[in-house]
Amino acid sequence: MHEFSLNFLRCVRCGSKLELDVFKKETEIEEGILECKKCALCFPIIQKIPVIWDDFSKYISERMVLGGKLFHSVSNYKMKKFLKHSLSNSKRNTDDRTALEERWSKIYQNSQKSKFYSIIKNELGAMSRSKLVLEYGCSVGILGSSLADSNQNVFGIDRSFSAISIAKKTQKENLDYFVADLMSDVFGETKFDLILALNVLELVEPKDLLQHISKQILKGNFVISDPYDFDRGKNSVKKSLDELALRASLEELGFAITVKTKKPSYLTWNLKLNSRTTLNYKVDLIIAKK
Ligand SMILES: C[S@@+](CC[C@H](N)C(=O)[O-])C[C@H]1O[C@@H](n2cnc3c(N)ncnc32)[C@H](O)[C@@H]1O
Ligand SMILES: [Zn+2]
Repeated sequence: MHEFSLNFLRCVRCGSKLELDVFKKETEIEEGILECKKCALCFPIIQKIPVIWDDFSKYISERMVLGGKLFHSVSNYKMKKFLKHSLSNSKRNTDDRTALEERWSKIYQNSQKSKFYSIIKNELGAMSRSKLVLEYGCSVGILGSSLADSNQNVFGIDRSFSAISIAKKTQKENLDYFVADLMSDVFGETKFDLILALNVLELVEPKDLLQHISKQILKGNFVISDPYDFDRGKNSVKKSLDELALRASLEELGFAITVKTKKPSYLTWNLKLNSRTTLNYKVDLIIAKK
């Protein structure tokens, strides 16, 4: 974690500023604790990555394999103690997410060349410089580097520690990543000039996410794309949106949709699952402004 990120991070439970206790520092903070004194909540920084989760033990309960790996990777005794305590408070979950999240991280790494990302990079390149940029569900950070080159400060959040570990390999002074939930208030009341939410509408209630993001843009751009692949069995969201409903919802929230993206599009987004299988999505892109 870069030290400057401390100015932006807030307690996800009460919105207070966080205090930083550094255990290990090189150019970035490698290990440490971000603490909300008001709630007595601790958010660990492990392998340079802050995990801003309301309940870290719960996060680890769903990822005990990751928990074990993190425990062995940390060097500071206070960090080891914190992890040991969190692991002992975790209830082992039968559906450990570690392998699944590691698999998808590799898939995204292997899919960076998909035409979709170059189209998005072109669109972003044509935008004026923003002071503060946030990417929701940034995964392995495919866009992070180019966003950091053309904007002042860039943040990415994703719930996958494995994906964020890969994203963190691209080191830029003005780019930082956090493990956090899409719907949590990691940045308190901070407003952003540009927010991206690419292909995440199926993962949380779409209207809730739009409202959550809208509150974070007073004046700025919102880039959203989706393949509308809502049919996910028991994991499906309650109220899906289609290409028209998404545009209408954005307008209701005060966004104006750019002329170029008023009409639904079908951008090629290929995800290489393995050497013989590729998921071939056609993605709709909307650029909206306030
Ligand atoms: C379909 S992928 C899209 C990745 C990237 N935006 C792209 O288009 O290449 C969705 C991403 O959102 C993350 N994600 C899913 N649910 C989340 C949640 N509740 N909070 C934070 N991240 C979440 C996943 O870990 C994954 O990296
Ligand atoms: Zn708090």
